Amino acid sequence: MNEKILNPYYDRLPGSYLFSTIAKKIKEYQGTHANADIIRLGIGDVTTPIIPAAIDAMHKAVDEMACKETFRGYGPEQGYDFVREAIVRGEYTARGIEMDPDDIFVSDGSKCDVANIQELFATDVKIAIPDPVYPVYLDSNVMAGRTGVFGEDGHFSEVTYLASTAENNFQPDLPKNPVQLIYLCSPNNPTGTVLSRETLQKFVNYANENGALILFDGAYNCYIQDESLPHSIYEIPGARTCAIEFRSFSKTAGFTGVRCAYTVVPHELSKLHAMWNRRQCTKFNGVSYVVQRAAEAIYTPVGWEQTKAVIKGYMDTAAMIRSELTAAGYTVFGGEHAPYIWWKLPNGEKSFDFFDRLLATCEVVGTPGSGFGPCGEGYFRLTAFGDHEQTKVALKRIREKL
Ligand code: MLT
Repeated sequence: MNEKILNPYYDRLPGSYLFSTIAKKIKEYQGTHANADIIRLGIGDVTTPIIPAAIDAMHKAVDEMACKETFRGYGPEQGYDFVREAIVRGEYTARGIEMDPDDIFVSDGSKCDVANIQELFATDVKIAIPDPVYPVYLDSNVMAGRTGVFGEDGHFSEVTYLASTAENNFQPDLPKNPVQLIYLCSPNNPTGTVLSRETLQKFVNYANENGALILFDGAYNCYIQDESLPHSIYEIPGARTCAIEFRSFSKTAGFTGVRCAYTVVPHELSKLHAMWNRRQCTKFNGVSYVVQRAAEAIYTPVGWEQTKAVIKGYMDTAAMIRSELTAAGYTVFGGEHAPYIWWKLPNGEKSFDFFDRLLATCEVVGTPGSGFGPCGEGYFRLTAFGDHEQTKVALKRIREKL
């Protein structure tokens, strides 16, 4: 095969995908340490089983599939009405936000949606991304040839980075260069911090005034403990004409293995709504009926109570990580409205060096901050999604051995 037929932009991606790199490093360590007792606080993967209400709904749906009268084949590509309506009721009406079920597109994951959405935009649009942030926004645009080349400073030449640091209280400034696509993530992965209403309003005004679009990732919104903080971009006046929102059941309901999410494209963005619908109908065949019934069950009164209890469990773990690290003299951010703790490394230690040191001394795994962008250098992310007792052991090792 002639390699000239391949997409050349893949060569611009630095290394492998962040979490694959981490997994490879762990495997290498295990290869040389046969009895390693590794505690994983790296990838944000849930560990609490799926709530009983969702499991019951799945069992029932499986039984329906065994019966000629209730069997379902292909479902609607956009999702069944029952789940779209449940999402509107449980997520939007409950917070005083008007939403039409037709604006909800159910999918098998926010990672896929957030990566796939970029194909609706011209190759030469300019993008802005928070720094640090979930690597999929950048990587998917690199693959599409939209980012220019990777420089020695760790930046792509055509990307506008929105620094979100302790210095600006994790509230990024508006882009310095003209951009047409703006990614925002709140609560932020990896810093665990939340964008304020004022910051979001500033970005919504910018987008409306400049004909730009905001791609708002709210995958962790259900971890926000302060009800006065914005959970959805649509709480911000003007957002319906300039923003798409991504939400996921992965972190809300433990569906990382089950797969269900949704993307909101308001009908005010009519051309984009039609394009995303066309894209999904052509390239996606919907989420399984069984899984959509499980998602619907989250919004029953009992399902919601059970979901809140699981979230509380993770937030208790987050509080424990925060207080233990703080008591040990470290500076940490996040962990109050999100399941991620953003740990500032002392003495200017580099994120990947610390990863190796933490693994070697404590057999604890986290995620190097620099993997999320240049501003993440010198930081380290711990997830609160691990088992609570195991996390306690990890913190003890950190206290005693690091
Ligand atoms: C993370 O650890 O950042 C997430 O688990 C990644 C994801 O949700 O794809």
